[in-house]
Amino acid sequence: MPLWEGRFKKSIDSKTNDFNSSISFDSRMYKQDILGSIAHAKMLAKQGIIEQIEADKIVNELNKILEEISNGSLKIDLEAEDIHMFVEAELTKRLGDTGKRLHTARSRNDQVALDLRMNLKDETNILVKLLKELISTLIEKSEENINTVMPGYTHLQRAQPITFAHHLMAYVEMLLRDIDRLKATYNRMNVLPLGSCALAGTTYNIDRDFVKKELGFYDISQNSLDGVSDRDFVIELASNISIIMMHLSRISEEIILWCSWEFKFIELDDAFSTGSSIMPQKKNPDIAELIRGKTGRVYGDLITLLTMMKGIPLAYNKDMQEDKEAIFDSIDTVKICIETLIPMLKTMKVLKQNMKNAASKGYINATDCADYLVKKGIPFRKAYKIVGQIVSYCIDNNTTLEDLQMEQYKKFDNNFESDIYDAISLEKCVTNRNTVGGPSPSQVKSRIEQVKRILNSTI
Ligand code: ARG
Repeated sequence: MPLWEGRFKKSIDSKTNDFNSSISFDSRMYKQDILGSIAHAKMLAKQGIIEQIEADKIVNELNKILEEISNGSLKIDLEAEDIHMFVEAELTKRLGDTGKRLHTARSRNDQVALDLRMNLKDETNILVKLLKELISTLIEKSEENINTVMPGYTHLQRAQPITFAHHLMAYVEMLLRDIDRLKATYNRMNVLPLGSCALAGTTYNIDRDFVKKELGFYDISQNSLDGVSDRDFVIELASNISIIMMHLSRISEEIILWCSWEFKFIELDDAFSTGSSIMPQKKNPDIAELIRGKTGRVYGDLITLLTMMKGIPLAYNKDMQEDKEAIFDSIDTVKICIETLIPMLKTMKVLKQNMKNAASKGYINATDCADYLVKKGIPFRKAYKIVGQIVSYCIDNNTTLEDLQMEQYKKFDNNFESDIYDAISLEKCVTNRNTVGGPSPSQVKSRIEQVKRILNSTI
């Protein structure tokens, strides 16, 4: 019989029990549930709500239960409705009436709100750590490719020369913002809901500040209805994770393109590729494709949460039990994606010559050619037009800006001198883009040093 047997004449129908139960997915919060209960028991004794000796027994037994679940000697009973009921029932089984005193001045409503906040705070810290590892990997690869010239693209058309380091460092910027967002969400999660009780607080003289300090929260919630029914922090985290997945999906998409024979900019290690069951020549970037594909399910989780919350009257409603599977799925998915992406990036081979070859064709130094004329005093729009005509001539005559003879250049504009060849060399095009945020090796190096300092600081 459940805890509410006094009010009920029959036990719950077994299928309904399964439907109602959340233990299969909320048992992963056992540690937070027990730590929350320990802090609560200590507070009850400090306030004289229960005897100190009983609180000591409760704390002692809860610690044992925590230890036993962690080492596998106590199996979580999947017949229990949820992890909160399981821990309380286990405590009561062991301590009798003493165990029954724990739930004074508390409800499962503020308990689940507490557990989830504690759990997601921990998960956020893990996620930040993983993102930092991913950033370090991108930095390592960038350092090896400071001078690796490749085409930069817009519209997937070759546009201007950049370096592979510059390209990878763009992802570092995205991931730094991801960490920033996670930190902001963490701060909003860091508010203790315990003490809101079922919805309207309690008549007992509880000390919420004490529990806040015990559990390492920064603040306490200021409205009991909101305390039990706010899931903004879950939605924020799911939204942050969706943005992270969008970034992972973009780099995956590029990896997939770069592996193709059409690009051949990189080669993935065999350990991070798969073959085909029928085509012997194939080496497929399945892992990158899966990361891209899994982005969809994470977006789905976010929509699940937003939709689940949108019509719920205050305060707690059982709909909210649906929050956990969605957010846990997002967390598990993003974690495994980052964990797989890191070694895949670490082991990929960068085919520098192919990148350079791709940058050497396609007139991606045309802007630099126009800038050359501008430096000789020609207005940019005029220079743009002249170079457009030169490019058109080159295409018709199957040549490049690098190979075009000086007398031909002179036919288009007399300002051209032999130093044009130096000005449009790919290396120069890159080194000369030396403004903050540009691809020049010195700019990229200095950003790498800044990011290393950021990683070593408190984030
Ligand atoms: N398993 C529930 C959940 O995840 C815990 C809270 C239940 N509270 C209640 N009054 N039914 O939301």
